[in-house]
Amino acid sequence: MSWKKSAQLMDSIKHYSNFPATGVSLRQMVQFGQNVSTGTLFRASQFLSEELPIRLAHRVQELGELPDGLNDMPSIKRVQDWYAQSFEEIVQLPKPSLTAEVKERLSKPSNRHGKQSRILSETTANPSVKPGQYQSTGYKSDAQKENANGGDRRVTAAKRYYSMADDNGEWPPELNEFNQSFSKVLEKIKRRHDPVVTTVAQGILEYKRKRQRMQIDNSIQAFLDRFYMSRIGIRMLIGQHIALTDQRTQSDENYVGIICTKTNVHDLAQEAIENARFVCEDHYGLFDAPKVRLVCNPNLNFMYVPGHLSHMLFETLKNSLRAVVERHGAEKEDFPVTQVIISEGREDITLKISDEGGGIPRSSIPLVWTYMYTTVDQTPSLDPDFNKSDFKAPMAGFGYGLPISRLYARYFGGDLKLISMEGYGTDVYLHLNRLSSSSEPLQ
Ligand SMILES: Nc1ncnc2c1ncn2[C@@H]1O[C@H](COP(=O)(O)OP(=O)(O)OP(=O)(O)O)[C@@H](O)[C@H]1O
Ligand SMILES: [Mg+2]
Repeated sequence: MSWKKSAQLMDSIKHYSNFPATGVSLRQMVQFGQNVSTGTLFRASQFLSEELPIRLAHRVQELGELPDGLNDMPSIKRVQDWYAQSFEEIVQLPKPSLTAEVKERLSKPSNRHGKQSRILSETTANPSVKPGQYQSTGYKSDAQKENANGGDRRVTAAKRYYSMADDNGEWPPELNEFNQSFSKVLEKIKRRHDPVVTTVAQGILEYKRKRQRMQIDNSIQAFLDRFYMSRIGIRMLIGQHIALTDQRTQSDENYVGIICTKTNVHDLAQEAIENARFVCEDHYGLFDAPKVRLVCNPNLNFMYVPGHLSHMLFETLKNSLRAVVERHGAEKEDFPVTQVIISEGREDITLKISDEGGGIPRSSIPLVWTYMYTTVDQTPSLDPDFNKSDFKAPMAGFGYGLPISRLYARYFGGDLKLISMEGYGTDVYLHLNRLSSSSEPLQ
């Protein structure tokens, strides 16, 4: 089963890569995803069949232009081919032929939601991103649009996504058929890209070996941040669209696609604690892992993607438990307790994970944010099939836990910070933005 990219495809990718991505905020996804109809879903499919190829094209180009021969590493080329293949599958999906009347209805937003169906709030600047760090455009109001250059097709595409279709009357079956096959294509793409993080990591290892490099330089670090951030965004859009497509079978009223409008922080944290303790017991052969005390209002909830929050908590808790066990020795009977304290502010919900695991020397702090930095002696084998879904090492060892978790936090306008007291312990602060209007950091 070998797939080859044609010169024509690469030309088309190059063309798409000239357009900036359109950032969407959490709140917009929720506003959009409530009560989606066939027509509205179709408009979203149309938006995504432009937006996803643009985002994929950027990645293909960037992988091809990586410096110092990194672009020639076999694993990097493999990943580049996946992006190109997914691009092709989206742009080649046959569009349904529609009557002039249906087209007209589709082009006219519904007025069910008030004036011109401007149901969506505007995106605000992402507080976790330095100005100029990413170049995506956010959703703009009509006034803002007037200042933008006239015939910008991005504005048109954004408009299409963010307005409900006129749902008075039936839609032809072709629309629903297209929605279903579009969602199938997205599912296939999502699965294809499951092993991207492991495979890129493999590519970096190939490069380090070939070039005899110990550390990766800043430009590669910056590339990886952009690349993995972009992956989070693409998977968010894809995951959300797939979930909305089979929303009809979904019963939980707190969910809009994969977003939970009432994510219960206490319960999620409790679950992450149990999972991390279980993995810790398993790894060190302990009867009872170090205890974790959770201080949190049991009713605290906010709009978030539960999967993202679980990931960040699980990763930071694993780090703390490992530090505690290694500092005090696995044979120790009772370990100092790790605290998880969760506060509710107007702007942020902040989670602090405080351990007595001995901390990190100040000179190593910048390194913990670099990919592949780990103090595990023997990095577990990087078999991309090892865990298809994501980078969930049993305990530790890849050096991806913290940098990837920080990207998840920043993606929705939050942040992850770490303060250590060498000789005592570490405090990790996870800030989550409650405003949910900040735009995706994308390029
Ligand atoms: N709470 C902590 N206390 C002490 N050291 C820590 C703590 N958290 C992280 N570290 C240090 O930072 C390093 C990097 O952490 P990170 O989670 O990114 O990677 P890892 O745990 O080594 O591997 P994995 O990718 O499996 O998480 C760790 O190897 C460890 O040395
Ligand atoms: Mg870790």
